[in-house]
Amino acid sequence: MLICQPISSKDFELYYDLRWRILRKPWNQPKGSEKDELEDKSIHAMVCNEDRTCLPARQVPIGIGRAHFNSDEEAQIRYMAVEEEWQGKGIGKMILSYLEGKIKEKGAKVIILNARDIAVKFYEKNGYEIVKEAHTLFDAIPHYRMRKVF
Ligand SMILES: CC(C)(COP(=O)(O)OP(=O)(O)OC[C@H]1O[C@@H](n2cnc3c(N)ncnc32)[C@H](O)[C@@H]1OP(=O)(O)O)[C@@H](O)C(=O)NCCC(=O)NCCS
Repeated sequence: MLICQPISSKDFELYYDLRWRILRKPWNQPKGSEKDELEDKSIHAMVCNEDRTCLPARQVPIGIGRAHFNSDEEAQIRYMAVEEEWQGKGIGKMILSYLEGKIKEKGAKVIILNARDIAVKFYEKNGYEIVKEAHTLFDAIPHYRMRKVF
């Protein structure tokens, strides 16, 4: 399993498609709703697996995540998403560790994120703590502000 940053336009196409399918499509959100204005300034990460159903075999993302900086001290992680059949196999943890490594390299002291209620346990297992209740997305998904201090 390979973890890397998307580079080519094809990489980004597959990367955003996975983000949309896991985090937006189930709530009938249109294509494009998976992006925000910080994409160009963010660190993008994806875990890839070899797709052998095509020739030549190619690497396709099966898990993704993004980090951006709110200030020199504070980074924020968003858009963590793993293909359904790959969830619970350590892919999310791999992406989180990779992004945390990049954030530490740049000297930030704290990471914040808004976790969906079903993902809170995942972040707790990775050293994050709940700070407060946050927004409810699409009138359906309660979120919690979480934080990890280095
Ligand atoms: C949340 C998500 C990114 C986690 O990635 P993942 O690859 O499934 O998680 P991992 O396999 O790396 O799990 C790491 C640890 O967290 C635990 N964990 C993961 N999801 C969990 C959950 N929903 N409840 C309890 N524990 C969970 C795992 O058991 C594992 O623990 P271990 O290290 O003791 O074995 C992924 O499940 C996902 O994409 N979910 C749907 C979209 C989503 O909710 N994204 C988050 C938006 S805030």
